[in-house]
Amino acid sequence: MRLDGKVTIITGGGSGMGKTAAELFAREGARVVVSDVSEAAGEAAVAAVRAAGGEATFVRADVSKENDARGMVQHAVAAFGRVDALYNNAGIMPEADHSVIDTDVDTWDKVMAVNARGVFLGCKYAIPQMLEQGSGSIINIASFVAILGCSVPQDAYTASKGAVLALTRSLAVQFAGRGVRTNAISPGPIETPLLMDWLLKDEAAKALRLNRNPSGRFGKPEEIVNVGIYLASDESRWTNGANFVIDGGITVNYF
Ligand SMILES: NC(=O)c1ccc[n+]([C@@H]2O[C@H](COP(=O)([O-])OP(=O)(O)OC[C@H]3O[C@@H](n4cnc5c(N)ncnc54)[C@H](O)[C@@H]3O)[C@@H](O)[C@H]2O)c1
Repeated sequence: MRLDGKVTIITGGGSGMGKTAAELFAREGARVVVSDVSEAAGEAAVAAVRAAGGEATFVRADVSKENDARGMVQHAVAAFGRVDALYNNAGIMPEADHSVIDTDVDTWDKVMAVNARGVFLGCKYAIPQMLEQGSGSIINIASFVAILGCSVPQDAYTASKGAVLALTRSLAVQFAGRGVRTNAISPGPIETPLLMDWLLKDEAAKALRLNRNPSGRFGKPEEIVNVGIYLASDESRWTNGANFVIDGGITVNYF
């Protein structure tokens, strides 16, 4: 198995790509720490992993809160003795997030707190543990909108994911010499509750997005998580500071 015994913390592991990651990581032999702000969703993800014969534990944590981030890493170490990978996946994309000229400060701050500060805090507490072990893999989930302008703006979200990419590069440079690699995945639009809840109700919004997508469809959670498995595994031991843009070809499409 590709992740045999590896202890992986998955933030936002209760839904969408995080839940799929919990299931597929466990199927590859990982010992999974599902972390989520929603206890019900996180516990359900753990139950699904266990039902399939995998090993998992839940810790409730709001990634934007320092005490929760510290507690999340402590829980992983108490349960499984180490942290081999941190899958920084928790993120939000509120409907109130538009262009800078019509986005309120509260929305901006909330998005930054979860999407950018959340990654900072997870790394702040997981990296020292990894340095002590002499190995670890940080996997940061950004977004294709971090590297593209968008005529349907979500400026707080875009800026928060840009911060994730910049931080990824900085961490990759700082810690690789001591065995801790840091990489990012930038997904295109994926069929998860985060996107589909509102897109499914709006045929025009859906058509607008599919028109620009050479693959003609949205991605599926496992099509992102498979890259995460590679990054958590030793197969990626020389992969550091990379940003995997997995978007069906959207970002290479001029017309
Ligand atoms: N779905 C897409 O199209 C898409 C595209 C690019 C990037 N992403 C990114 O992928 C990641 C996962 O997205 P998804 O579509 O699976 O989302 P989702 O909404 O299905 O799941 C997100 C999970 O994060 C949890 N969460 C929210 N705020 C949290 C907090 N403060 N602390 C801890 N957990 C919290 C939620 O409870 C939920 O379980 C996000 O970072 C998102 O920005 C998604």
